[in-house]
Amino acid sequence: MFLNVNPTLFNIFCAFLTVWVIKHLFNFINRLQKLPPGPWGLPFVGYLPFIKKDAYIQMTELAEKYGPVFSFKCGQFDVIVINEVKAIEEALKNDHLLARPASTYVPGLKRDPSLIEMSGEPWRQQRRVALTILRNVGLGKSTLEEKIKEEIGYFIDSLKSAHGNEVDFGDEIKTSVSNNISILLFGHRFEYNDPIGSEMRRNMKQVIENVPYFSKFMFMPVMLVFVSLAAHFSSDLRKMTSNQKELEKKVTKEVAKHREKQTTHEIEDYIDGFLQEMDKQKDSNTSFNINTLRRNTSDFYAAGSDTTTHVLNFMMLYLVTHPEYQQKIRDEIKQTIGFERQPDYADRTSMPFTMAFIYESLRMATIVPLNVHRRAAQDTKVMSYSIPKDTIVILNFWAVHRDPNLWNDPHSFKPGRFMSDDGQKVIKSPNLMPFSGGKRVCPGATLALIELFLYLVSIVQNFQVSASERDEIHDEAKYAFLRMVKKPVKLNFHTLKVN
Ligand code: HEM
Repeated sequence: MFLNVNPTLFNIFCAFLTVWVIKHLFNFINRLQKLPPGPWGLPFVGYLPFIKKDAYIQMTELAEKYGPVFSFKCGQFDVIVINEVKAIEEALKNDHLLARPASTYVPGLKRDPSLIEMSGEPWRQQRRVALTILRNVGLGKSTLEEKIKEEIGYFIDSLKSAHGNEVDFGDEIKTSVSNNISILLFGHRFEYNDPIGSEMRRNMKQVIENVPYFSKFMFMPVMLVFVSLAAHFSSDLRKMTSNQKELEKKVTKEVAKHREKQTTHEIEDYIDGFLQEMDKQKDSNTSFNINTLRRNTSDFYAAGSDTTTHVLNFMMLYLVTHPEYQQKIRDEIKQTIGFERQPDYADRTSMPFTMAFIYESLRMATIVPLNVHRRAAQDTKVMSYSIPKDTIVILNFWAVHRDPNLWNDPHSFKPGRFMSDDGQKVIKSPNLMPFSGGKRVCPGATLALIELFLYLVSIVQNFQVSASERDEIHDEAKYAFLRMVKKPVKLNFHTLKVN
């Protein structure tokens, strides 16, 4: 049969094939020449199999070898890692680098992307509407601060009820912090023993601890074809997918309750506001639909609870390992607030050491060390480096926060580095970038800072925090998408006897 092929057609086919191969080879070499240097990987999978668990440390080490901006092939994508502060600042200002990867973080779900995963115009619209609703229902306003203070009151009472016995701080704090975002999203908090609230926190924990930053499904979306098969073999994947589904189911129930009351109520929370926007836009083909609402709400819930919780966990370890700093914060409380009234966020202006302690905790903990992945929406440049369209761009905040050229003795916890020489003022360094920057900066940064200040000050105002003598306390971390404390933070909170 092969012999019967028309020789002219065969020659044309071979010519086309040769041109196609040469063109692709040329593009490949051209792309390689444009990209910054970096490690080689294997055919098809690239460097993906060589990525270690603590990828942010590995990326920082690779930068020492290949330079501050390096690249590698990772699964189906080219990746550029930017490790140097000036280049990161430039990247954050570049509008072509605002997009996210098109592939999904949590595979196995039929789904619309959430605001965190969106790119382009849908992202811009969703972010603008979300911020408007959240501001209208309290974000950045004194009404929300009052609610956070009320929540902290319950939290302090629950620590007091342990009577100085060991407490699993990580569990307790997450229960309380997640209530602040629940108020913004659902319009209510959960009692500490509410089974639905506990389930939601458990679902969120399982998702966050099982989404690796260098997920093979994200970097090799071709594998998603096999995802249902993979789910049979990978318990991590099964856990992640089923917990995300469970979390979204609970959010769906909240949405249903809001729909029932919608005709009679004004906008009290994010779900109310989104439902109203959906009605406004019902005749246009936009991303304002019920699936996006469910996805945005569960992502906001996770982004608003787990992040602040992880920083507070690290903070408690720094308090316990540096009792002298704990005392300095208490001295500032004594001078500014006293031990009777609850702290206000406005008190921070008279508490420079406390603010320096918070900044140093954010630097040391760097809970989002490699940022959330960005993607080049078009061919672009950072410094003199070319970034071809669809390259995944990673901003290595860990490298900046540990750069010995920017910080003296960067591996030590020293709040004094954020203070003026006379110790009277706090100085926030532009090299501290825990919330990223530019147009896609974390929209929860102010809420997080208010929470960090109010929880820290309330704890130190009420308790002497220490660790059980049997336990060795250290700030070892584990990493998936977020950097978090490795071991449960078990601490003793002895009520202060103040005269
Ligand atoms: C200490 C606590 C927090 C840290 C360190 C943190 C850090 C970050 C970082 C690094 C990003 C990625 C920004 C980028 O792509 O360049 C981000 C995004 C985001 N954060 Fe936070 N965050 C914190 C708290 C919060 C809170 C309390 C909320 C809830 C209101 C929140 C909601 C979000 C959302 C929705 C995004 C996605 C924004 C977008 O894609 O446009 N975060 N955060």
